[in-house]
Order: sequence, then structure tokens, then C-alpha cells
Amino acid sequence: MFRKPGSLAAPLIFVAGMAFAHGDTAPRAVDTTGLPDLPEEMATENPWRNAEGDLLFKAVEIGGKGFNSNCARCHGLEAISGGLAPDLRFLEANDMGDEWFLDRIQNGYEQNGAVKMPPFKGILSQEAMWAIRTYIETRPDADAVTERASDITALRDRIKELPATASTDEVEVVAGELDKLGSTFEPLSGAPRTITPLQQAAHLLRTGVSHAPMAAEMVSGMLRN
Ligand code: HEC
Repeated sequence: MFRKPGSLAAPLIFVAGMAFAHGDTAPRAVDTTGLPDLPEEMATENPWRNAEGDLLFKAVEIGGKGFNSNCARCHGLEAISGGLAPDLRFLEANDMGDEWFLDRIQNGYEQNGAVKMPPFKGILSQEAMWAIRTYIETRPDADAVTERASDITALRDRIKELPATASTDEVEVVAGELDKLGSTFEPLSGAPRTITPLQQAAHLLRTGVSHAPMAAEMVSGMLRN
């Protein structure tokens, strides 16, 4: 079985997190609970590139958390680079892009003895690495998101207006609209599709209208970027 970084690494990471909070430079393990275990041998291509449903959403959710805690400080929030490090949204979603991704995430990068990017081998499990990869390659084009801000706001408000007593059919109408708008955004990586907070909100809404406030908050997050 693939040895997940856990028992030994966790207490150390916890302490580091307490000590530094923001701006912490130590790579952290990522909790991949909810994702299936991958075979011990490292895949050469993203095993979740064509995933669907729960698995896809789980991979993007966990990958997003992993990205924010380990990569965003250099590669930018939402993977939109501010110039410190390459913009990962353009890394091609194919076997060549994956090979490059794996090389960098496992080994990091040193230049003239200075660590420009830390290695994550032994810290992130294979599941965490591919979840991060799935998150990166499904990012939408941020400019297109900005252009549709008013449509996104209108849909966010429709989620907010859903009564707690809304029927499954009423919820489905809004979820369907969210999916439809979400599917108009193209990834910059050439991946099969984007997963934006719109589709994530739709997925969440379908699990129960009581999640509407959280779904609306997800969509609002998209407007702040
Ligand atoms: C301390 C800053 C830093 C952190 C943290 C960091 N990186 Fe990097 N990363 C860099 C720099 C700088 C480069 C450019 C290195 C080079 O010239 O190839 C890079 C390059 C890469 C590349 C190659 C991109 C390309 O277009 O050539 C990938 C893939 C990558 N990083 C993924 C990640 C992932 C995934 C994480 C989080 C798990 C991460 N990086 C965390 C600084 C960082």
C-alpha cells in the first residue's frame, strides 16, 4: 500500500502551522479523506482527468485546499500567477504536462543552490498530488469570469432566494442554470472542462436545499477574484 504521510508528519506540521500561520513556508500534508487510494506505482498521467460526479468534485475540492496551503503563495490564488512563479493554468492537460508537473512537484527546483520551489515528495501523497493537478487544470479563464460577473451575481441571488421549503424540482432548476453557466468557461490547459464554484454550488445544492447559504457563498467567492 502507498504510505500516506500521516502519523509521523502530522504533529510536526501542526506545530509549524501554529507557529507561523500565514506566510508559512513549510510544505504541509494534505488530508485526502474521501478520495480513493491510487495504486502504489505513481501514475504517469492524471488518473482523474476524465473523472465525473462525486469523484471529480472531491478531487477539485481537496486539490484546491492543497493548492492554497502549499502552492498559492508562489503560484498565486486560484492559480493566477502574480509573476513570482509560472502561471500553472497554462500547463497542458496531457501526458507531457503531467510529466513536467510530477517532476516539479516531487523534486522542486533549485537554482545556484537556492531552493526556488521546495520538493513535495514524501509530504504529499500521490492522491494529493493528482488532486492538486485536477484543481489546476480545471481552472477557468479569469477574464471570462469577470465578463460574466453580472450573470454570476444574478444566479447567486437566485440561490439566496430559494426558500428552505423548495422542492427538489425547484432546486434542480437553479442547479441546472449553475451547471449551464459553469460549462461556458473554458480551461486554459486544454482539459476536458472547467470546474468552477458554479458547478460546485450546483453539486452541493443537489445534496439538499439546506446547503443553499454555503452554495451562495461559494459563488460569491468567484465574484471577489
Ligand atoms: C517557494 C515558491 C514555490 C512554491 C511554494 C511552489 N512553487 Fe512551483 N515553482 C516555483 C518556481 C520559482 C518555479 C519555476 C521553476 C523553473 O524555472 O522551472 C516553479 C515551477 C513549477 C512548475 C513548472 C511550471 C512550468 O510552467 O514550467 C510546476 C508544475 C509547479 N511549480 C507546481 C507547483 C505546485 C503544484 C506547488 C504546490 C504543491 C508548487 N509548485 C509550489 C515556485 C514555487
